[in-house]
Amino acid sequence: MDASQLLCLDDFEEQAQKLLPIGMWSYYRSGADNEETLRENREAYRRYWLKPRILRDVSVIDMSTSVLGEKVDAPICISPTAFHGGAHPDGEIATVKGAAVMNTLMILSSISNKSLEEVAAARPNLPKWLNVYPWRHRDVTRDIVKRAERAGFKAIVISVDISTPGSRRRVMRNVRQAAMPGKVLGTFDRYINKTAGSSPDFSFQETTSTWQYIQWLRDVSKLPIVLKGILTVEDAILAAEHNVQGILVSNHGGRQLDCVPAAIDVLADIVDAVGDKLEVYVDGGIRTGTDVLKALALGAKAIFIGRPVLYGLACNGEEGVKAVLRILREEFKRAMALTGCSQLSDISRSLLISTNDRLSKF
Ligand code: LAC
Repeated sequence: MDASQLLCLDDFEEQAQKLLPIGMWSYYRSGADNEETLRENREAYRRYWLKPRILRDVSVIDMSTSVLGEKVDAPICISPTAFHGGAHPDGEIATVKGAAVMNTLMILSSISNKSLEEVAAARPNLPKWLNVYPWRHRDVTRDIVKRAERAGFKAIVISVDISTPGSRRRVMRNVRQAAMPGKVLGTFDRYINKTAGSSPDFSFQETTSTWQYIQWLRDVSKLPIVLKGILTVEDAILAAEHNVQGILVSNHGGRQLDCVPAAIDVLADIVDAVGDKLEVYVDGGIRTGTDVLKALALGAKAIFIGRPVLYGLACNGEEGVKAVLRILREEFKRAMALTGCSQLSDISRSLLISTNDRLSKF
């Protein structure tokens, strides 16, 4: 493969499909049920168009910002995804190295092949947050969170949209080839009772978790809390009332409840409701610099990408992750220049035309 031919994030996806074993590809690429939301995550961006402003000084473009006080060179960060070892033998170590070259924030999944300590040690100075699930065994969560604190992670990101796992037919159809690199679960291994044959995956879910869980976690750790998987204004308001520091507006890459809207389509209402109380981020379906611009115009403090990082890893390890981040950043920079924005504060809803008449309130 000639890496110079990988010019956009979709190129990485196409190439990753050729390189990855079908089982791994199916796991990464899968969405829930009919994959309506998976498709919608991409389609929704196409219903926003840009209004370029001309004859403005865009000789210097500043994309730098901060996320919960952590400085990043651009508002393009890494969403948590599981099992990076399925894309590259160096797994999450390659990811954190790629992220560090681009000086951006990485959210590490606790379902990682490399341990959180190994990832932290590989690039101690890069800002990192740790993603946890409401595991049934709270002592597991408590221990992981304490380990994250010790290793220098700066925030805990809780996936709140997974009270039960989504149903992914693409995975079921390829189950025989689905050789998950789950033999080494760097962060999680020590909690698995191998003799009892417990599954390391969703069996740890605590389906009785409520908002009290957030208070419990707050008592466990003083790290800032980010809730990942908020899709309604109502829950965003509750998050603010529970004093979380950030929310990631997300439908889990279309992998949980099918037929929920694209995150980008619910973002603006959520920002209007709580944007002055906490930081609001978005992920899901972002593949181009103009997508990033649209998300920021609708009020996101930063955007996160998930699958494209895995595809970068699959194509070229650390270099691939770096390339994916660099391409998206360069596209975003160009989109800023061509819409007349030299700093992030120039980006506002006035840049957008929406042809979206599909979402109406009930
Ligand atoms: C998934 C889990 C790991 O989406 O969050 O597969």
